[in-house]
Amino acid sequence: MKRLVVLASGSGSNFQAILNAIDHGDIPAVCVGLISDRPQIGAMERAANAGIPVFVIARSQFDEISAYNTALLAQIDALNPDLIVLAGYLKKIPEAVVKQWSGKIINIHPSLLPKYGGKGFHGIHVHEAVIAAGDTESGCTVHFVDETYDTGSVIEQARVPVLPDDTAESLQQKILIQEHLLLPKVIRKLLQSSYSRS
Ligand code: GRF
Repeated sequence: MKRLVVLASGSGSNFQAILNAIDHGDIPAVCVGLISDRPQIGAMERAANAGIPVFVIARSQFDEISAYNTALLAQIDALNPDLIVLAGYLKKIPEAVVKQWSGKIINIHPSLLPKYGGKGFHGIHVHEAVIAAGDTESGCTVHFVDETYDTGSVIEQARVPVLPDDTAESLQQKILIQEHLLLPKVIRKLLQSSYSRS
């Protein structure tokens, strides 16, 4: 069985979509851990309900950033995943983790990258920017993670029309529905190809 590790910072609806897909047999994997950068987030409750081990690794627990980086890397190494999924994880992934796990870390972002990516473009801010720009289309992107926010190579996108009466909130909701379909689909594809830790 392939091993998935999920990193999340928020409500974890994408994490839940992954767990549901595993339950339905759509993703041939087991989720071996949820790593969070903060305590008491919705994703942790979802993990607890599913009996998945939770590891909180917060920057604030460490005096030195190097100690934080080492702890995160050590935890991921210990879980030995075939794929690492950032599902609403807000903290930047340390360079040492990206190097060690290059090509094995994916992220979901609620825009059609490269548009509306990078620092500051998270949560509702992404959709506010799309509405303010008057775009007629938005969507979501799953991409590989590199050393900077939202710049790694795109794996797959889903498109959502922006209608004249859409608000940032309505757009966010419509895109989230597509995220819940796209992320499990990409995970399944990646795991089913000859994709495992070399
Ligand atoms: C999603 O919109 C995702 O694209 C972004 O953060 C949000 C997380 O939502 N990276 P949730 O915690 O999965 O509900």
